[in-house]
Amino acid sequence: MSKKSNDNSSQKTFTLTNNETGESCELPIVEGTYGPHCIDIRKLHAQTGYFTLDPSFTATGSCKSRLTYIDGEEGILMHRGYDIKELAVKSSYLEVCYLLINGELPTQAELDEFTYHITNHTMVHEQIKSIYQGFRRDAHPMAIMCGVVGAMSAFYHDSLDINDPEQRMISAHRLVAKIPTLAAMAMKYSKGQPFVYPRNDLSYAENFLHMCFSVPAEEYKLRPPVVRAMERILILHADHEQNASTSTVRIAGSSGANPFACIASGITSLWGPSHGGANQMVLEMLNEIGHKDNIPEFIKRAKDKEDPFRLMGFGHRVYKNYDPRAEIMRESCHEVLEELGIKDDPQLELAMELEKIALNDPYFKDRKLFPNVDFYSGIILKAMGFPTEMFTVLFAVSRTVGWISQWKEMMEEPSLRIGRPRQLYTGAPSRAYVPVKKRKVVKKSA
Ligand code: SDX
Repeated sequence: MSKKSNDNSSQKTFTLTNNETGESCELPIVEGTYGPHCIDIRKLHAQTGYFTLDPSFTATGSCKSRLTYIDGEEGILMHRGYDIKELAVKSSYLEVCYLLINGELPTQAELDEFTYHITNHTMVHEQIKSIYQGFRRDAHPMAIMCGVVGAMSAFYHDSLDINDPEQRMISAHRLVAKIPTLAAMAMKYSKGQPFVYPRNDLSYAENFLHMCFSVPAEEYKLRPPVVRAMERILILHADHEQNASTSTVRIAGSSGANPFACIASGITSLWGPSHGGANQMVLEMLNEIGHKDNIPEFIKRAKDKEDPFRLMGFGHRVYKNYDPRAEIMRESCHEVLEELGIKDDPQLELAMELEKIALNDPYFKDRKLFPNVDFYSGIILKAMGFPTEMFTVLFAVSRTVGWISQWKEMMEEPSLRIGRPRQLYTGAPSRAYVPVKKRKVVKKSA
C-alpha cells in the first residue's frame, strides 16, 4: 500500500462535463492515508443542479474516518494502523477497545485504568431484569437486545448529553462494559436459567463466558482454549469501516439521538442475514446441506438467479480477496476443536469441503466470492456451546466498541450535520385528486 500525503486538501480537481450542454464543473479531489482518492461532491448540486445516485453506496464515501482501513483487493484490515493479524495474536479485546476509542495503544497504566472503568461498569440496573420478563422465553435474543439496549437510555440520564465529551466517554464505557452482561442475560433468559452477575476478578472474555455458562448448581470451569478463542472472536469483529450497521449508527447519531438508542439501531441492522445474521445462517445452511455429497446441488442453487439461496458466509462488498478475519477464524476453529477434543467435527469437515469446491468453481472465482468472517465463526461458537441464535448477539457484543467509537468520532466532527440523503423521484407525475365515486380499478404499478 503506497502511503499518500496526509494533506486532504490536495489542489487536484476532477472536471465533470455535461456532453449535452458542454457545461463542466471542477470538484476537489481529497486524498486519505491509503485507499482510493475521493471526489468531494458537496458543491455538485449548487454548481450543476445535479445529484449523484448510488443506491447501495458501492462507490460513495459517507465520512472521513481514522479508525479502520480495509484493502479489499489485498485482504488487509487495520485498526488505527495496526494490522488485524497482529492484534488478534498479540493484543487483548480491551486493549483493542482502548485503541479504537482513544486512537493509540495504551500504556500499562492507561490500560489498567481503562480496564478498571470497564470492569466496574459491568453490572446493569436491577430494574433492567424486569424488561426481560416481558419477552417470551423463545424470543430471538437479538429481539431482546434491540429492546434492552435501547432501554438503557432510560436508566443512565447522567450520560445522555451528547455535547459533553465526558458524558460521551462514560456512555462508551457503559456500553462496552454492559453489553456482555445484557447478552449473557438474553442467553440465560432463553434457557430458563437464572441470570449470572458479572465478576470483577475475571477478564472481559472470561466474565462473558462465566455469565453465559455458569449455573448455581456447579462451579463453571474456564477452559483456556475457549477463553483464547472468545478473546480472538471479540477482537476480529470489533470494527469494520462503514458497514451497514455502523452506517446505521452514524445516521441515527447525526440526528442527535442518544448513544444507547444509536447502538440499538446498529443491533437491528446487524441482525439481517446479509450482515451479522450470516453466522447463524452459515450453520443452518451446513445443517441443510447435511452431507458433502449434497454440496454440488447447493452450489447450483447458489448460482441460480431464480433461487434466493445464497452461500452464506461467502462474498463481501469490500473484500475481493480472502477476508483476513476468516483466515484467523479458520485457524482458531482447528485449535478450539482440537483442544476441546472434538475430532472430525462433521460441520467443520463439510465447511472445509464446501470452501474447497466453491473456491474452485468459476462462478465464485470470477465474482471473487471468498469465505468471510462469518463462515467459520459459527462452527467455533457452536463448539464453545453457544446456541445458534446467540451467534449474532456475540457479533453485536464485539461490534459495540466499533459502533460507539465511530459514533464518538462523528460527534467530535466540528461540522456535524444531520445525514439526509436525496433521491431520484420516479413516481407518478402531478395529478388532480379523484373522488372515490369516480375512481376506476387501476392495475397497481410496482
Ligand atoms: C458481514 O460490510 C461489512 O463490512 C460487513 C461485515 C462486517 O464486519 O461488518 O464484514 C460482516 O456482514 C459479512 C458478510 C456476511 N453475509 C453473508 O455471508 C451473506 C452471503 N453474502 C452475500 O449476501 C453477499 O456476498 C454480501 C451481502 C455479503 C455482499 O453483497 P454485494 O456486495 O451487494 O454483492 P452482490 O450481491 O452484488 O454480489 C455480486 C455477485 C452477484 O452475482 P451477479 O449478479 O454478478 O451474477 O455475486 C453473487 C451475486 O448474486 N453473490 C453470491 C453470493 N454473494 C454474492 N452468490 C452466491 N452466494 C453468495 N454468498
